[in-house]
Amino acid sequence: MNDTFLKACRGEKTDYTPIWMMRQAGRYLPEYQAVRKNVTFLEMCKRPELCVEVTLQPIDLLNMDAAILFSDILIPLEAMGTVLEFHEGRGPVFPNPIQCQADIDNLIIPDPDEKTGFVMETIRLLRKELKVPLIGFAGAPFTCATYLIEGGSSKVFWETKKMMFTAPAMFHSLMEKITETTSLYLQAQAKAGAQTLQIFDSWAGILAPGDFAEFALPYVKKIIADLKDTGLPIIYFANNGATLLDLSITSGADIIGLDWRINIGDAIKRVGNRAVQGNIDPFSLLLPKDKLKERIGKLLNDAKDAHGHIFNLGHGIHQFTPPEQAKFCVDTVHELSSK
Ligand code: CP3
Repeated sequence: MNDTFLKACRGEKTDYTPIWMMRQAGRYLPEYQAVRKNVTFLEMCKRPELCVEVTLQPIDLLNMDAAILFSDILIPLEAMGTVLEFHEGRGPVFPNPIQCQADIDNLIIPDPDEKTGFVMETIRLLRKELKVPLIGFAGAPFTCATYLIEGGSSKVFWETKKMMFTAPAMFHSLMEKITETTSLYLQAQAKAGAQTLQIFDSWAGILAPGDFAEFALPYVKKIIADLKDTGLPIIYFANNGATLLDLSITSGADIIGLDWRINIGDAIKRVGNRAVQGNIDPFSLLLPKDKLKERIGKLLNDAKDAHGHIFNLGHGIHQFTPPEQAKFCVDTVHELSSK
């Protein structure tokens, strides 16, 4: 068992810096495409044997130090009783977005084993196969709420901010329901065998610090507090979150995920006794190998005083990234950080 990743999560000394990449199981791999071409994305998420297969691909092919469960942050939202579709080229769509209190009242708080048992089954199967730790995950309530309110992906988040600012009580009631669902969902993942849990707050960065503190952070804190009994390390990743870092640190997370817009050395000075994860620009993987190696070396050096560093991209790997460049990145992190 390679437990380098878990040691880094706990801030313990490691023989080298562990690495994994957000969205490492995905379309940039021809081996993923081969599985995906026969089924829709949602079908794939609901078939544990396929989820296991694609979760293992980046471990076997690229030598990552951790596996992340293949699923999606929107799966538990569908289990709340919403209609979820994925349209080719457009991404996720909720055809009946949340618009009023009645829509919120109609959402259920699903029993995770009953409604998302396929996720828990994937975790149990993976733990039998894996020689590296398994990361479970969920979306942060604010990020989940944006998809439900906008009816899918958005650029300006008009509907979300309109609800926040014109009907705050309604917005908070939605956040409470998503929070309870997410908390139970992550506890079930822990029970099924996940060894670390990551909370993805992909859209936190659209909020002013004061609004983040009022409308988003309290719900992340609640989930992390609920997870304390599991004893698992918790990673909180607020994308575009440099201006929210001092607030994110108060979330209770053991590991702070960093996007590429902040210098990792500066962030480490601020996070105190916590591990960090990140933070090379995903597009750096397009650099010529000598330049990429130089950047990796600099990042490792900037992170040398970290209380645990997990190397990662500053956000998900882009679908057109050559897998060979991702492999070079993994090998280089291992080589340059080996003591
Ligand atoms: O990291 C991994 O490899 C595990 C699997 C994983 C997926 N989505 C698979 C996926 C994880 C951890 C996610 C998280 C997720 N999903 C986030 C948070 C992370 C982030 O990127 O900010 C968000 C916002 C979503 C919602 C989502 N799912 C969107 C917006 C899209 C469409 C856009 C896109 O990237 O295609 C998806 C689809 C999705 N989720 C794919 C994969 C592999 C592509 C589906 C396909 O095969 O067509």
